[in-house]
Amino acid sequence: MPRCIVTRRVHFNAAHRVHNPKCSDEWNRKTFGVCNNPNYHGHNYELDLSVEGEIDPETGYVMDLNGLKELAQERLLQHLDHKNLNLDVPWFQELIPTSENIALVCWRELRAALPAHLTLRLRLWETPRNYVDYEGA
Ligand code: NI
Repeated sequence: MPRCIVTRRVHFNAAHRVHNPKCSDEWNRKTFGVCNNPNYHGHNYELDLSVEGEIDPETGYVMDLNGLKELAQERLLQHLDHKNLNLDVPWFQELIPTSENIALVCWRELRAALPAHLTLRLRLWETPRNYVDYEGA
Protein backbone atom coordinates (compact mmCIF):
# COMPACT_ATOMS: atom_id res chain seq x y z
CA MET A 1 0.00 0.00 0.00
CA PRO A 2 1.34 3.49 -0.80
CA ARG A 3 2.27 5.54 2.23
CA CYS A 4 1.94 9.30 2.69
CA ILE A 5 2.70 11.91 5.29
CA VAL A 6 -0.07 14.39 5.99
CA THR A 7 0.49 17.51 8.08
CA ARG A 8 -1.73 19.90 9.97
CA ARG A 9 -0.21 23.14 11.28
CA VAL A 10 -1.65 24.46 14.53
CA HIS A 11 -0.80 27.53 16.53
CA PHE A 12 -0.58 28.63 20.14
CA ASN A 13 0.69 31.61 22.10
CA ALA A 14 2.42 30.97 25.36
CA ALA A 15 4.80 32.52 27.86
CA HIS A 16 7.72 30.74 29.44
CA ARG A 17 10.93 31.09 31.33
CA VAL A 18 13.85 28.79 30.59
CA HIS A 19 15.19 28.13 34.05
CA ASN A 20 16.61 25.17 35.94
CA PRO A 21 15.62 25.60 39.60
CA LYS A 22 18.29 23.07 40.64
CA CYS A 23 21.06 25.44 39.47
CA SER A 24 22.16 28.84 40.72
CA ASP A 25 20.73 32.09 39.40
CA GLU A 26 24.14 32.91 37.98
CA TRP A 27 24.35 29.60 36.12
CA ASN A 28 20.84 30.14 34.76
CA ARG A 29 21.63 33.66 33.56
CA LYS A 30 24.85 32.51 31.90
CA THR A 31 23.31 29.41 30.31
CA PHE A 32 19.97 30.75 29.14
CA GLY A 33 20.61 34.49 28.69
CA VAL A 34 17.48 36.48 27.82
CA CYS A 35 15.40 33.28 27.86
CA ASN A 36 15.95 33.23 31.64
CA ASN A 37 14.21 36.59 32.15
CA PRO A 38 12.54 36.27 35.60
CA ASN A 39 9.25 37.81 34.42
CA TYR A 40 8.86 35.45 31.45
CA HIS A 41 8.55 36.18 27.74
CA GLY A 42 6.22 34.99 25.01
CA HIS A 43 6.29 33.14 21.72
CA ASN A 44 3.91 32.58 18.84
CA TYR A 45 4.45 28.87 18.46
CA GLU A 46 3.60 26.99 15.28
CA LEU A 47 3.31 23.24 15.58
CA ASP A 48 3.34 20.97 12.53
CA LEU A 49 1.68 17.65 13.26
CA SER A 50 2.67 15.05 10.67
CA VAL A 51 1.06 11.65 10.48
CA GLU A 52 2.44 8.91 8.27
CA GLY A 53 0.56 5.83 7.19
CA GLU A 54 -0.96 3.91 4.33
CA ILE A 55 -3.61 5.53 2.19
CA ASP A 56 -6.92 3.98 3.17
CA PRO A 57 -8.50 2.74 -0.08
CA GLU A 58 -11.97 3.43 1.28
CA THR A 59 -11.42 7.13 2.08
CA GLY A 60 -8.28 7.99 0.11
CA TYR A 61 -6.94 9.44 3.38
CA VAL A 62 -4.03 8.57 5.65
CA MET A 63 -6.03 10.39 8.31
CA ASP A 64 -8.80 12.97 8.20
CA LEU A 65 -6.95 16.24 8.87
CA ASN A 66 -10.05 17.72 10.44
CA GLY A 67 -9.94 14.88 12.98
CA LEU A 68 -6.26 15.64 13.61
CA LYS A 69 -7.12 19.31 14.15
CA GLU A 70 -9.77 18.38 16.70
CA LEU A 71 -7.41 16.00 18.52
CA ALA A 72 -4.78 18.73 18.67
CA GLN A 73 -7.28 21.17 20.11
CA GLU A 74 -8.45 18.75 22.77
CA ARG A 75 -5.12 17.14 23.69
CA LEU A 76 -2.71 20.04 23.24
CA LEU A 77 -3.96 23.52 22.48
CA GLN A 78 -6.54 23.87 25.22
CA HIS A 79 -3.73 23.14 27.71
CA LEU A 80 -1.11 25.39 26.11
CA ASP A 81 -2.73 28.33 24.30
CA HIS A 82 -2.52 31.66 26.16
CA LYS A 83 -0.88 29.96 29.14
CA ASN A 84 2.24 30.53 31.15
CA LEU A 85 3.95 27.19 30.57
CA ASN A 86 5.93 27.32 33.83
CA LEU A 87 3.02 28.30 36.06
CA ASP A 88 -0.15 27.06 34.39
CA VAL A 89 0.75 23.77 32.75
CA PRO A 90 1.30 20.71 34.97
CA TRP A 91 3.41 19.03 32.24
CA PHE A 92 6.18 21.54 33.01
CA GLN A 93 6.19 21.36 36.78
CA GLU A 94 9.28 19.13 36.61
CA LEU A 95 10.38 19.84 33.05
CA ILE A 96 12.06 22.99 31.68
CA PRO A 97 9.73 24.34 28.95
CA THR A 98 12.28 24.49 26.14
CA SER A 99 11.14 23.80 22.58
CA GLU A 100 12.63 20.31 22.87
CA ASN A 101 10.57 19.50 25.95
CA ILE A 102 7.39 21.11 24.60
CA ALA A 103 7.74 18.98 21.44
CA LEU A 104 8.34 15.86 23.52
CA VAL A 105 5.27 16.43 25.70
CA CYS A 106 3.06 17.24 22.71
CA TRP A 107 4.25 14.09 20.93
CA ARG A 108 3.44 11.90 23.94
CA GLU A 109 0.00 13.41 24.44
CA LEU A 110 -0.98 13.16 20.79
CA ARG A 111 0.63 9.75 20.23
CA ALA A 112 -1.58 8.30 22.97
CA ALA A 113 -4.66 9.48 21.08
CA LEU A 114 -3.72 8.16 17.62
CA PRO A 115 -4.35 4.71 16.16
CA ALA A 116 -1.26 2.50 16.57
CA HIS A 117 -0.69 1.98 12.82
CA LEU A 118 0.02 5.68 12.26
CA THR A 119 3.45 7.25 12.80
CA LEU A 120 3.65 10.70 14.37
CA ARG A 121 6.31 13.33 13.98
CA LEU A 122 6.23 16.91 15.17
CA ARG A 123 7.96 20.10 14.18
CA LEU A 124 7.64 22.89 16.73
CA TRP A 125 8.53 26.40 15.57
CA GLU A 126 9.46 28.69 18.44
CA THR A 127 10.34 31.52 16.06
CA PRO A 128 10.30 31.69 12.25
CA ARG A 129 13.99 30.74 12.42
CA ASN A 130 14.14 28.11 15.21
CA TYR A 131 12.43 24.77 15.17
CA VAL A 132 12.68 21.37 16.80
CA ASP A 133 11.72 18.01 15.30
CA TYR A 134 10.62 15.07 17.41
CA GLU A 135 9.36 11.66 16.33
CA GLY A 136 9.62 9.55 19.45
CA ALA A 137 12.62 7.89 21.13
NI1 NI B 1 11.66 31.63 24.80
